[in-house]
Amino acid sequence: MKIDPLQVKELIKTRRTVRKFLQKEVEREKIKDLIKAAMWAPSAHNSQPWRFFVITSKKTKEAFSLSMARKWEKDLRQDKVDEKTIRELTEDSHERFIFSPVIIVVFVDMSEMQRYHDEKRNNYEKVMAIQSVSAAIQNLILMAHAFGLGSNWRCAPLFAQEEVKKVLKVNLNWEPIAAISIGYPEEVPQAPKRKNIDEVVIWDEER
Ligand SMILES: Cc1cc2nc3c(=O)[nH]c(=O)nc-3n(C[C@H](O)[C@H](O)[C@H](O)COP(=O)(O)O)c2cc1C
Repeated sequence: MKIDPLQVKELIKTRRTVRKFLQKEVEREKIKDLIKAAMWAPSAHNSQPWRFFVITSKKTKEAFSLSMARKWEKDLRQDKVDEKTIRELTEDSHERFIFSPVIIVVFVDMSEMQRYHDEKRNNYEKVMAIQSVSAAIQNLILMAHAFGLGSNWRCAPLFAQEEVKKVLKVNLNWEPIAAISIGYPEEVPQAPKRKNIDEVVIWDEER
C-alpha cells in the first residue's frame, strides 16, 4: 500500500484542538475506530498499558465533571485564588465537559509493566507507560480528525485521580491521566504558533 506523505503531513498539521462541538451524536462505529487506531500505537515491551472509558450519557458526564470540579475548587482555594475566579474556571470547565458529545477518559495500567527493586527504575517504567498511552492518544485524535471530528485532549483527570476512579468505578490499577472530548466541530480554531525548527533541534555537525 502506498501512502501519500503529503496527505499524512496535511492530516497532522491541520488537526486542531476543538473546544466547541455541535450537539450531534457521534456514531458508535466511529468511536470504536478511534479506539482501535489508538491501540495500534507503539508501546514499551508491547505492554499496551492504555485503557479507555467512553462516556456518552449526560448523567455520567455530569458526575465525572463535577467530581473533578470539586477537587479543583479545593486546590484553587489552597492556592488562595478568589471565589469569583474559582467559580468562573470550574464552571467553564464543567460546561465544556457536559457539552462534549463524547468523552473518552484515558487511563494507564501499570499491572503488566516491569517491576524493579529500586524506585528510580520503577519511575522510568511509569514514564514509558505514559509515553505509550500518549502515543495512543495521538493516534486517536489524528483518526478523529480524519473522520472530520474535533478533539480536545484535557489533563483534568490527572489532578483528580482518586475522585475519577471512584465516580467511574474502574479497576484500582487504572490510573486516569487524560480526558479526550470528541465531537463534530462547531468552530474552526486558528493554529497556535509553533516554534521554529532551529529552536528545538541540534544537528551533530553544528557541534
Ligand atoms: C498533555 C496535554 C494536556 C492538555 N490539556 C488541556 C486542557 O486541560 N485543556 C485544554 O483546553 N487543552 C488542553 N490541551 C490542548 C493544548 O492546549 C493544545 O494542544 C495546544 O494549545 C496546541 O493547540 P493545537 O492542539 O490546536 O495544535 C492539552 C494538550 C496536551 C498534549
